[in-house]
Order: sequence, then C-alpha cells, then structure tokens
Amino acid sequence: MNRFLMDSRFQGIQPFENKVWLSSPTMHGDEQKWVDDAIQTNWVSTVGANINAVEEQMAAYVGTKYAVGLSCGTSALHLATKLAGEKLYGQAKPNAGTLQGHKVFCSDVTFDASINPVAYEDGEAVFTDTEYDTWNMDPKALEKAFELYPEVRLVVVAHLYGTPGKMEEIKAICDKHGALIVEDAAESLGAKYKLNGAWVETGTLGNYNCISFNGNKIITGSAGGLFLTNSKEDADKVRKWSTQSREAAPWYQHEEVGYNYRMSNIVAGVIRGQIPYLDEHIAQKKAIWERYKEGLADLPIQMNPWNPEQCIPNFWLSCMIINEDAMAPMVRGEQDYLYKSESGKSSPQEILDALSSFNAEGRPIWKPMHMQPIYRTNPFVTVEGNGRGRTNAYIKGSGVDVGADIFRRGLCLPSDNKMTPEQQERIIEIIRRCFL
Ligand SMILES: Cc1ncc(COP(=O)(O)O)c(C=O)c1O
Repeated sequence: MNRFLMDSRFQGIQPFENKVWLSSPTMHGDEQKWVDDAIQTNWVSTVGANINAVEEQMAAYVGTKYAVGLSCGTSALHLATKLAGEKLYGQAKPNAGTLQGHKVFCSDVTFDASINPVAYEDGEAVFTDTEYDTWNMDPKALEKAFELYPEVRLVVVAHLYGTPGKMEEIKAICDKHGALIVEDAAESLGAKYKLNGAWVETGTLGNYNCISFNGNKIITGSAGGLFLTNSKEDADKVRKWSTQSREAAPWYQHEEVGYNYRMSNIVAGVIRGQIPYLDEHIAQKKAIWERYKEGLADLPIQMNPWNPEQCIPNFWLSCMIINEDAMAPMVRGEQDYLYKSESGKSSPQEILDALSSFNAEGRPIWKPMHMQPIYRTNPFVTVEGNGRGRTNAYIKGSGVDVGADIFRRGLCLPSDNKMTPEQQERIIEIIRRCFL
C-alpha cells in the first residue's frame, strides 16, 4: 500500500483515476488533416507542403525572416552551435569540431540538450551561474566569466521553463566582448521580451536561434525543431548541412560533413495543425500558473518568478521553490534520495513523491550542468568568480551557487493544459498537506 495514502495528513484525498501529466501533447484535429494530406499526396519524406507551411508560419509568428525545419530542437542547436563555431574559428576538418580548443559560456540550469552541442563540436562548456529573478543565466556571472576567460567568443543561453532570461544585459555584455549568442528557446516558444523598449519574441534574441516541438513542449509535432534567423546565408547553410551537405552537382558530391537532420513532412503535418492553437495553449498555461500562485499563496513557497515589465512568459511549466526556513531535511545521491517529514516543512522530493502517489506527475528542477557527472571537470563561474573548489577546511561557508540552490529547493508542478481546475485544486491540496 502506498505510504502517502496511509498517511493521516492526506486523509480524504483520492488518487486521480487518470494520470495528470507534467506536460503532455494536446491535439485538436487539424493535425490529422495535415498528416493525411501528406500521405494522400505521397509527400512522405523530408520535403513537402507541411514543412514549407511550418517554416513560413513560424518565421512569421516569431518575427524572423527564415525558419529551417529540423528533426528536433537538439539538431537545431547542434547546427546553430556549429555555425557559430565556423563563423568564429573557420571551417574545421571533417574529423574535428568547429570549437576544438575553445571555451563557450553556457547556461547552467537547463536540459543537457542545450549545451551538449558544444561537446559535439569539440568545445569546452564553461557553466555560468543562474540568477533568482528569472532562474536564467546571471548577467553578472557572465561578466565575471569574461573577466576570467576574456578569449571566449560564444555564449549559449536557454530560457528556463518559458521565462525569458535578462537578454538585454546579456546581449550588451556579449556585444562588449565581441561574442556571438546561440539562443535556446526550446521551452519558451511564444514568450515575449522587452528589448530596448520594444516587445519581441524569444527565438529572435541570439545570433542563432532554436526552438523545439518535442512531445512535452507548448506545441508539438511529436518531435521537430526549427533554426530561426534573419540571414539567408545561414538558413541556406543549415538546410544544406541538415540534408547531408549535398553540393550543386548531379551526383552526391560533398565538400562538408553532412547530417540527416531535416524535419519530416509527417511531423510537420502535426506541427502545422498545432500552430493555430499556440496562443490558446499559452493562455491555458498562464491560467495554471495563476491558480497555483493563488492556491499556494499562504504556504512558505514562491512560484517561478518573472518581471511583467520585462517579459511575458509562455508559462510552459509552473514551478515552485520552498523557502529556506521551510525546507525539511533532504539529501540526494547520484541516483537516490532520502528525506524526513517535519511539521510545517517539506522538500521537493517529498512533494514529488506525494504527487506521484496520487497519480500526478511533477519533476525536479533541471539538475545544473556543473553538477552533472559528465561535466564535473568543466569550469563553473558564479558572481564571485571561479565556482569550483570553493570549500575550505579552515574557513566557514562555501560561496554562492544559485543553480544548486534552485535545484535543491525547487520543483516543476503538473502543468498539463488539459488539467481541469478541479484536478488542480486537488494537486494544490496535496501540496498543502505536505506542509502539515
Ligand atoms: C532547454 C531545452 N533545450 C533543448 C531541448 C531539446 O529539444 P528536442 O527534444 O526537440 O531535441 C529541450 C527539450 O527537449 C529543452 O528543454
């Protein structure tokens, strides 16, 4: 028997009959029409009208001149990162990455797909700490990173959970240091940001911009991604690389390494059917965030923050962070965890376990990249400077690490746009009981 169902704190709460998901696909019907259209017209390939429509409609929505349809957000990020590397350091040999021997400043609290392309291209990610205002890259930590590594010319920035980072500051710092930006807007499609007084979309804020249509994103094609740009030359290059780098010859002629990264016309059919519903999905996600904010208002927690003067998130995932003085003891190993229940307090793992017991899906905050075993030897920079080797047997305190703190105290709440207000009320009640 499930421990939480036996726990007197949760008396009277019933598990959900059907699972409430973190964020699952929401189909509307048009998707089937465009998939059928592709099949009936025999465009079951990586060319076709659905791909063209997705590219045109999304470029128009986001406000870039060009969009290139790719198999997923990760392939978009790979080609964006490669393009940046080639622009900065020249064309690499076929067996080498364009970033070989070079460091790249990277968002730290994000999905590893944001920054793995730096490794694909043989570069070294230098993780840059996070700020509390938006949970994104801290411009002050970025400034510190340039002090420590003035030779760096590339920055990879992600917008966490649909809330844009402080891009005005980040862009100004990058301009000052002559650095390019790869923007990972995978989670933030439809989020708006006020740049120098004008509202713009995320996906237009870097030199090379990417979005994702992964199954859990705000709109989906089951997979798929876009590279977004105002440069025809860059769009043409990414399209070429994504289709095996064919040259203009009657046979297969290659001067560059190629990839099979192009979007499928079937996947594009699903995305084409979803595009008209993007704004509706954002409105539903916003209502979810607001209901959590209201329903959890008197608990010792904060919702994931955003500044209405500066941005309008797409509210992809609603998240919360527990106040330090309301954190019950919790430790996490590499693959396991342990926590204690204490009156008036709780912990992310306790809340996630409680939600799961009642058949609802939450998730820990992305574990910061500088804490990941794979990247443990990569540099990490905080507002104080080098973030590695900060403890000292002879001195108290261990220095700031905002990403680690948000990971420790935060969690993602069920944010599915098909969740009913009644279901959300029950979820809020489960969370409230965790603090009894
Ligand atoms: C921040 C971020 N970057 C990149 C990706 C990768 O996108 P995809 O799954 O489409 O490859 C995702 C999600 O999947 C993501 O959340």
